[in-house]
Amino acid sequence: MIACAISCATRGLAGVPVTVEADIANGLPGFAIVGLTDRAIQEARERVKPAIRNAGYKFPQRRVTVNLAPAELPKEGTGFDLGIAIAILRAEDSSLRLDGLAFLGELALDASLRPVTGVLPMARCLAASGVRRLIVPVENAPEAALAEGLQVLGAASLQACVEYLRGEGTLVPGVRDASLPSSEPEPDLAAVRGQAQAKRALEIAAAGGHNLLMTGAPGAGKTMLARAFPSLLPDLPSDAALEVAAIYSLRGTLRERPPTTSRPPFRAPHHSISRAGLVGGGTGLAQPGEISLAHRGVLFLDELCEFSRQHLEALRQPLEERTVTVARARAAVTYPADFMLIGASNPCPCGHLGEAQGCTCEPRQLSAYNNKISGPIKDRIDLVVSVPRQEYRDIFEGADEEPSAVVRDRVEAARNRRGEVAGHGNAALTGREILAAARATTPARRLLALSGERLHLSARGFFRVLRVARTISDLAGEDRVGEEALAEALHYRIEMAG
Ligand SMILES: Nc1ncnc2c1ncn2[C@@H]1O[C@H](COP(=O)(O)OP(=O)(O)OP(=O)(O)O)[C@@H](O)[C@H]1O
Ligand SMILES: [Mg+2]
Ligand SMILES: [Zn+2]
Repeated sequence: MIACAISCATRGLAGVPVTVEADIANGLPGFAIVGLTDRAIQEARERVKPAIRNAGYKFPQRRVTVNLAPAELPKEGTGFDLGIAIAILRAEDSSLRLDGLAFLGELALDASLRPVTGVLPMARCLAASGVRRLIVPVENAPEAALAEGLQVLGAASLQACVEYLRGEGTLVPGVRDASLPSSEPEPDLAAVRGQAQAKRALEIAAAGGHNLLMTGAPGAGKTMLARAFPSLLPDLPSDAALEVAAIYSLRGTLRERPPTTSRPPFRAPHHSISRAGLVGGGTGLAQPGEISLAHRGVLFLDELCEFSRQHLEALRQPLEERTVTVARARAAVTYPADFMLIGASNPCPCGHLGEAQGCTCEPRQLSAYNNKISGPIKDRIDLVVSVPRQEYRDIFEGADEEPSAVVRDRVEAARNRRGEVAGHGNAALTGREILAAARATTPARRLLALSGERLHLSARGFFRVLRVARTISDLAGEDRVGEEALAEALHYRIEMAG
């Protein structure tokens, strides 16, 4: 007797429908699972068998073979447990109705269902492949319900699922946003006193999608500024928000981020993070890393110089391609990684370079420090701004600071000015595109030529300055890049050695 149940695997952010075939044949009792499976799936035998028994059903005392098709697709994880159990039970019990249904979930020995990762991308894939109803563990139901075009049902146990399939019981319909945390409020820029120049740079970065580096003495407010940065960004369009939710679903971290939020993500990994944690990978499941969790949002690297050279090198390709490919034992997986990079760093190891009290670093220390950033990611940073220590009167006596909402309005207006460039902003314009988009005035061109000579700007340097100038002009509502915008852009150019 053969029976089939539909389940799903993931490959990167895409789902792949999987047919679970169960064959029950005469012969010595045995239980095999085939179809390019990993260890977790092999161990499914040790979960599914007791779960079926503890749910009060009979596990066939014959030769049971389960095949996961397509056989050539590498499969991993525990999410096939429910589909395997249902296919086995269906082979001996034709009263189970499986038409149009799919199954995801891990079984505990007592037959209760445990949540699994990646349910949202898998639900989207199953809906597209014609599945009408999806049964998932109760905890996964809200995220699965984000997928359009199929009915989601949450089951607490194998029994609940079987009774439903016999038409004898009901399951909990999945509802978007049920009992999920709401977004925490983003820190507001108004809490940062003074620092007008840094705030201006943040506004430009937000408007153009530029990567930004802040350098300054300890306690000047760099971390505070960076944490307020997301509040300047517009909401994500709904397709982007869903894509981000799918990445969090793969990591099983939807609890960290409400799946229905349309705010851009903000990730601030500590410099002690592993390479796999930062860019993705790891043993077992190839998980997306912090750079993918920051997709369509912000990756904040505080104390940039404390990150290892290898970590910073690993960012080079994603910054260039906006995706990351994680090499695996069996197949490479690609995840989206289209993030804005905000870095913060002290100007030197002692932290006081350029300050009145003076720097106590050795020249050798200084150049090693500079090289660390400048090597791998200098090419990708459009804006550098110094964040000086504020005077007493800047902090305690100034007027009220502008709230983030006001800045965000300007950012949105600037982004919409020239019909936003494919969602990435001016930072993503190629050399040719920026030359056309800038429409620099004659005085602006003259200034660019002059400063290019004086500052030894490379071709890349020219384009970088023009991109930033384009964004500054967008913020000012100007069609052409003028001298003033260009002068300001020159001011933020990278000054690191190397
Ligand atoms: N401009 C400011 N306005 C209001 N508070 C500030 C400002 N600058 C610093 N602070 C206060 O000082 C604390 C330290 O600031 P923050 O952590 O942002 O400094 P930092 O530049 O990141 O320092 P470090 O280089 O040591 O990391 C903040 O939590 C905040 O309370
Ligand atoms: Mg800090
Ligand atoms: Zn120093």
